[in-house]
Amino acid sequence: MTHPEARSLATRVIAPGSAAVDALPEKAIGIDVGGTGMKGGIVDLTTGELVGERFRVDTPKPATPQAVAGVVEQILAELRSRDEAPVEDVPPVGVTFPAIVIDNVVLSAANIDPSWIECDAHALLKHLPGRISTLNDADAAGLAEVRYGAGVGQPGTVMMVTLGTGVGTAIVHDGVLVPNSELGHAEFEGVAAEKKVSAAARERADMPWDEYGEVLRRYLAYIWRIQPVHQFIIGGGVSRRSDDFLPYVTGLRADVVPAKLVNNAGIVGAALYAAEQARAADALR
Ligand code: BGC
Repeated sequence: MTHPEARSLATRVIAPGSAAVDALPEKAIGIDVGGTGMKGGIVDLTTGELVGERFRVDTPKPATPQAVAGVVEQILAELRSRDEAPVEDVPPVGVTFPAIVIDNVVLSAANIDPSWIECDAHALLKHLPGRISTLNDADAAGLAEVRYGAGVGQPGTVMMVTLGTGVGTAIVHDGVLVPNSELGHAEFEGVAAEKKVSAAARERADMPWDEYGEVLRRYLAYIWRIQPVHQFIIGGGVSRRSDDFLPYVTGLRADVVPAKLVNNAGIVGAALYAAEQARAADALR
């Protein structure tokens, strides 16, 4: 029997992303909902690696909650049918959105269909065979990098910055996520930062890599003054080209390192988050 004091302590220390939540299941499922593609995978929670191939389906157009829910169901069915699927009948399943997500309710829609605003994603997906948890895509990536990637062993405050169609941010302090930081929307040099700093903005402007590195340097220096951190982890597909632009990101009072999990960070972080949430819910029973 759990000692009553140990139990109350356990319920207090459990938090999203907290390293205090141990004994996770071996595997969980992560699904990353993006503007163009929805990607799912089975995640080995010990290593943070995908078990088998990831499964991608085009994001439906328009990407309404009902249409997206249909694709989540399809991805989940495919992953659960595999030999290497989690053993649980109803495994933890994490789903990310490129939006503010508070208590499983989606509250913004910069890069998804506006009909998502105020959608209770948990209610929408709860008929599916999974213990569903939902979170912001950059938050998922940040959790994954801190637990398995470029932020492993980094004490203090880490900020993940994902550069894609938009700019996402995640703040993780000593392993605990402070969700929904949304600093890609901070006003920077007269515009919402993501209009200037995203990978899509670089492509639109046909910006050379050195110039992009300089824009990113100014953005991170500005963000650091609002939220000082020990380490910035730069993610998103463009981080594969980090050798071309990170050398120009110098002089900051924080380490700036490329992400290690790159395109799978959202899937891995979603799975980890869902497993932790399921474990926390069980501990409270
Ligand atoms: C959204 C964020 C998201 C980021 C990356 C931004 O436009 O507001 O919620 O994390 O894009 O997808």
